[in-house]
Amino acid sequence: MENDVLNENFEIVTRRLVLPRDLNGHGNLYGGSMLSWIDESSYLYAIEKIGYTNMVTVSLENVRFRSPAKMGDSVIILCRIHQIKSSSITIQTKAIVHDTKTNQISEIIDCFITFVCLKEGKPFPYFKTEEFKAKFNQKDINDLILK
Ligand SMILES: CC(C)(COP(=O)(O)OP(=O)(O)OC[C@H]1O[C@@H](n2cnc3c(N)ncnc32)[C@H](O)[C@@H]1OP(=O)(O)O)[C@@H](O)C(=O)NCCC(=O)NCCS
Repeated sequence: MENDVLNENFEIVTRRLVLPRDLNGHGNLYGGSMLSWIDESSYLYAIEKIGYTNMVTVSLENVRFRSPAKMGDSVIILCRIHQIKSSSITIQTKAIVHDTKTNQISEIIDCFITFVCLKEGKPFPYFKTEEFKAKFNQKDINDLILK
């Protein structure tokens, strides 16, 4: 499944080891830790792709935890660009658990995170700027803008 996901243009951004500090009272990965890892990974992926860092998270959609992770699991976080508009970029982010003993993969979450570019604290239409266009040729921009 890891290879299947990579074939869908997802890139591995982060790997995290589930440690005792990340667990809830029943020994599963705490959802708040997972969301924090996803938010950070998606931000790092986005700034690397677009060359702009002043962004805030505005929304997380499709936040449903499909299967648990347990202590010692290796959590792999993968991202791809879903949509770019004027000031906003939406990243599709998956987290999967790879059980190295059985080589089984299970999906924890598959969600959409939208970031908004800011300038002086207000939404900034960075994706319409010459600065953005100068960094990417038109084909790259077309490839990035799926919708
Ligand atoms: C993000 C923020 C700057 C948006 O301000 P706003 O005045 O409501 O912005 P607008 O309505 O003009 O929308 C700006 C962009 O955000 C997008 N947006 C707004 N709400 C959205 C939502 N719920 N989901 C997805 N995109 C959204 C708009 O589509 C627009 O995108 P575009 O410019 O690419 O078309 C403001 O809500 C904010 O500062 N929120 C707090 C962010 C934060 O602190 N995050 C950290 C977590 S606490």
